[in-house]
Amino acid sequence: MSHGYTAVYIGAAVRPMAEDTTPEMNLADSEHIECPYKAYASLHEAGGVGRDPNIGTIVAGYDTLAALARNTGVYSSAITEDDRGPRHMGINSEPVQDDVEEILSNAHPIVNALFTADPPEHTRHRKLISKALSPRSVRALEPQIREITTELIDAFIDRGSVDLIPEFAVPLPVTVIADILGVDRADIWTFKHWGDLMISGNIDLLSHERRREVAHAVVELHDYFVPRIEGRRREPTDDLLSIMVNTEVDGEPPLTTEELLPIIDQILLAGHETTTNLIGNAMLVLLNDDALMNRLRNNPDDIPAMVEEALRWDPPIQCTFRRATQDDNIEGVDVKTGDMVIPMWAGANWDPEVFPNPEQFDIDRPTTKPHMGFGFGPHFCAGAELARLETKIAFEELLGRLGDIKLDESESDLSHLPSFASHGYHKIGLSFTRID
Ligand code: HEM
Repeated sequence: MSHGYTAVYIGAAVRPMAEDTTPEMNLADSEHIECPYKAYASLHEAGGVGRDPNIGTIVAGYDTLAALARNTGVYSSAITEDDRGPRHMGINSEPVQDDVEEILSNAHPIVNALFTADPPEHTRHRKLISKALSPRSVRALEPQIREITTELIDAFIDRGSVDLIPEFAVPLPVTVIADILGVDRADIWTFKHWGDLMISGNIDLLSHERRREVAHAVVELHDYFVPRIEGRRREPTDDLLSIMVNTEVDGEPPLTTEELLPIIDQILLAGHETTTNLIGNAMLVLLNDDALMNRLRNNPDDIPAMVEEALRWDPPIQCTFRRATQDDNIEGVDVKTGDMVIPMWAGANWDPEVFPNPEQFDIDRPTTKPHMGFGFGPHFCAGAELARLETKIAFEELLGRLGDIKLDESESDLSHLPSFASHGYHKIGLSFTRID
């Protein structure tokens, strides 16, 4: 099955340098951000490894990327550490002015943890966090997630129209993550505001004033969670935060507050915008393919296969980052100690050696190797089961309750968010009928 916009791939041109055959590309180019897939196709033709001169080496070949992801000794995830120690989410390792540093001095100390840690620390964090996010713990959340989903649809179903992102795709994962982390419902939008500031701190060029706001968000988030962590240590409850705080595995001591705070930041940041964009990206596929939309409506059991193919075909996280700890050579491309290396997960998902005709959206695609929409190797997404369940329930409820779903172009802005790492649409307006 193919779909409407295979014809409009307008990715940034990939051109070889004069003395060097490594293909070069500009990831921040707005055309590339609109549609990166043409550039990935060109990278594969050239061997799967390229370079953005402003950022670093880009790895898109599936097998090369799988080996790189496993090689945590040479390709470190501790990308935000500098001589001041690990930096907070949203601040990173850029120089900041003294007054911002002053605000940050009120934040609780942190260590590199989970997403920004390497083995052996990463292995310990992962073991301890896995119980809270295990398939079993996640399955137990199903009734809660369905209730949140139902209430969100109830709020707009009589109107016959919805602005999908702010009215559905944002509040669903934010509410679920807030519940998991024991955030009071009344505080959800403050919590989301902190998350948005920290994401923006990671990906946008910020004014000094905005950077101060990000620093305040880091401190406020810590002030919010430290007493909650300490409370659960004293009196465990049955929520997932309590499991994260108190789990002991294989004689490992429980996570410390210095470890838990960055992990909470990561769950907040990794756990909401990603799922929002997966719901939006997958909805666009269905809006362009009536036959697939009808098939899923009539066979909801096929929804998980559609979700997996959406994660392969148009993944919300296109890439993350690693830093080389020694000189190396990736498929003939030299990498120097300290260089940034970009695991281009979305590029590997379009490797024609592994996914023949990668431009085809095919939920019946025979799979020999897993897609990399959730990454690969030791840092494989810790929230994958949760994201899958939320998105499955989202489409079961949307397709079960809304008929004749159509894109309302006058209420939509199908340009992409201004990031080469995170991939999603600005605004998806829908019209529909109510199924009784
Ligand atoms: C569609 C939704 C999601 C996508 C596409 C996604 C994607 C990813 C990717 C690509 C990575 C690998 C990072 C790397 O190796 O550099 C990752 C890691 C991670 N994700 Fe997700 N994610 C999603 C949802 C979630 C959710 C719901 C949570 C939290 C409940 C979450 C928590 C994490 C954490 C904590 C890590 C770091 C794991 C580690 O370093 O061991 N993610 N995610």
